[in-house]
Amino acid sequence: MTSVGIDAVEVWTGKLKLDLPNTFAPQKGDDPEKYTKGLGLEASSFPDTYEDIVTMGANAAKRLMDRKGLTPADIGRIDVATESAFDNSKPVSTYVAGCLEQVYDGDFHHANKGERKFACVAGTQSIDDAYNWIAAGRNRGLAALVIATDTALYARDSSGEATQGAGAVAMLIDEDPNLVELSHEQGYGSADETDFLKPQQQFPSVDGKRSMQVYLARMREAVEDLEAQLDEPLHPEDFVYVPFHTPFPGMVRKAGLLGYRHILRDTDIEDEVAEEIGRQPREESFDDRESYEEAIQSYMDELKRTEQYRSWYDATIEPTLNISRQVGNWYTGSVHIARASALQAAAEAGRALTGERMLVASYGSGAQAEVHAETVCDGWREEIGALTIDEQLQRRYDLSFEEYERVHDAHNHDLDTEVEEFTQPSGEFVHAGWGRMNERKYEYVE
Ligand code: COA
Repeated sequence: MTSVGIDAVEVWTGKLKLDLPNTFAPQKGDDPEKYTKGLGLEASSFPDTYEDIVTMGANAAKRLMDRKGLTPADIGRIDVATESAFDNSKPVSTYVAGCLEQVYDGDFHHANKGERKFACVAGTQSIDDAYNWIAAGRNRGLAALVIATDTALYARDSSGEATQGAGAVAMLIDEDPNLVELSHEQGYGSADETDFLKPQQQFPSVDGKRSMQVYLARMREAVEDLEAQLDEPLHPEDFVYVPFHTPFPGMVRKAGLLGYRHILRDTDIEDEVAEEIGRQPREESFDDRESYEEAIQSYMDELKRTEQYRSWYDATIEPTLNISRQVGNWYTGSVHIARASALQAAAEAGRALTGERMLVASYGSGAQAEVHAETVCDGWREEIGALTIDEQLQRRYDLSFEEYERVHDAHNHDLDTEVEEFTQPSGEFVHAGWGRMNERKYEYVE
């Protein structure tokens, strides 16, 4: 079978930063450690007044095309995944293509364009669509551009305000990829859930605690489904990294522990751990579900303190969280920055990764989890070394609380507020106004 996967990745962060422990927490009367220790967040990225999902997506895509020496003639498909779309009919990918056509020779008239929606899992679904298009041989030798772009803003003074963020990830999906090859097998966990939704409204209705439970339940189903596809259980040492969808690192701390307990079962490592804390409870040994769940909870409390778990978590999960801590939730892009973060950490540590496997675990509210394996390819170090995310993070404008409130209002579709930009655009697409049919207009600023 043809090898298909992610050939290259580029990231664009919103150009503003809200420092959560130092700027946000004091204004909310919160202990800063709720953010740093509880949620695992240092800062959220926000879009400047001239940025939106189109500019961030187009800017990430341009960076990717420039670096790979691509022109529109090399791209047969543009899919944008977002849960922040501002139009129910015209897809964001048409706006992105329009931006890119301003700066490249040629056009995307023969590229199939679309927009994918299923909360945060849509970015992974778009990669899937591109994979299937290539694997089916319908790509005419061309590559697909997948862009995950979101402004994850919540209503002011709501609990979701703690986990906001904004940014875009552009990925080139192609044959014989340089970065990672995708596995054919996938696991799904999907159910009609009401945990997070935006019924014709800009800011989400969210039941935060419920969304965390649903994340874990669907993720577990997806892992079981993958194991069924593979016809064998997963083992903790199968994967060098496990990038999860990361609405905030504290969520991944919970998912990591649950996942470890699941894949530990009946392994040599469970035997080792059993010497210290006993074997994990099996449901069949309990009379009812409630007493089984109580026993599992106390087993997990002990498991998370074991040396085996701590070293697995530090090696396999912790490196996936570095970027997320600094940017917050990017919805559709979030699991893709987790992958980038892990590979960046490996490159910095000088690790040899070619041929190693990662387990990528995506989730979207509403709700669906998807897990699949990826094999790291030969060119990973060069591809990941080209990322400029660290410089972008350092260059962000650090908002005061009052400036944060103004910029939040500037992006609120129901308000008509004029707010001066905080940074100067240079070498990037900007939102430049509105057209006669209320369409957004974009231009490239040299
Ligand atoms: N020191 C250390 N930890 C602290 C702390 C302190 N001073 N204060 C609070 N915490 C911990 C809490 O115990 C909690 O951790 P736990 O879940 O392990 O118990 C965590 O910090 C968050 O505190 P909490 O009081 O639950 O925060 P919140 O009421 O503001 O809600 C979310 C947090 C994530 C539920 C909320 O921001 C939200 O709804 N976000 C959007 C939805 C979302 O992202 N869902 C995830 C699935 S996609």
